[in-house]
Amino acid sequence: MPLFLTPLKMGNRILLEKSEIVSDPLSTETQEIIKNMLFTIQSIGERVGLAAPQVGILKRVIVYRVPATPVNSRYNNIQMESNVEIPWSVLINPMILSRDEDITFGWEGCVSVPHIMGYVPRSNSIAYTGFDENGVQVHREVSGFHARLIQHEIDHLDGILFPMRVTDMSKFGFEDEIQNNFF
Ligand code: NI
Repeated sequence: MPLFLTPLKMGNRILLEKSEIVSDPLSTETQEIIKNMLFTIQSIGERVGLAAPQVGILKRVIVYRVPATPVNSRYNNIQMESNVEIPWSVLINPMILSRDEDITFGWEGCVSVPHIMGYVPRSNSIAYTGFDENGVQVHREVSGFHARLIQHEIDHLDGILFPMRVTDMSKFGFEDEIQNNFF
């Protein structure tokens, strides 16, 4: 039975640390981490990503999904981009290989920053690589919501939370207020 791992919240020092490379994606330890992370984020619901440090594990593992339509109004930027749907997936030792100079702003939220949203600049397209839960290398060139999501999750592995990227603090606030005022 997988374990629910309580997410850490902004203010916890662990979230500011750099995570370690996973030496063996197929090890029992790594497989347990993946199982527990997927169970945790799926239990929380209406979410699109989780990085291992958010549950106190300083390893370079993220789980994510790209919904075709928003699972929550906080992700309403999905609609405009007609993303290809990707079910819950695993990325081990993810790396951004290249990024577009083109920067776009989008609203973000985070399990570790509950009820808060901010308008965050990110590269519009990136190429990334990593390994899935079977140790198979993944290589993708993506843009829009998918690119934003991967950049947000990799930031967690480097100790960066989205509020640290917000450049205009007038577009940072409580989810309900932002949705009523900016959406
Ligand atoms: Ni996050």
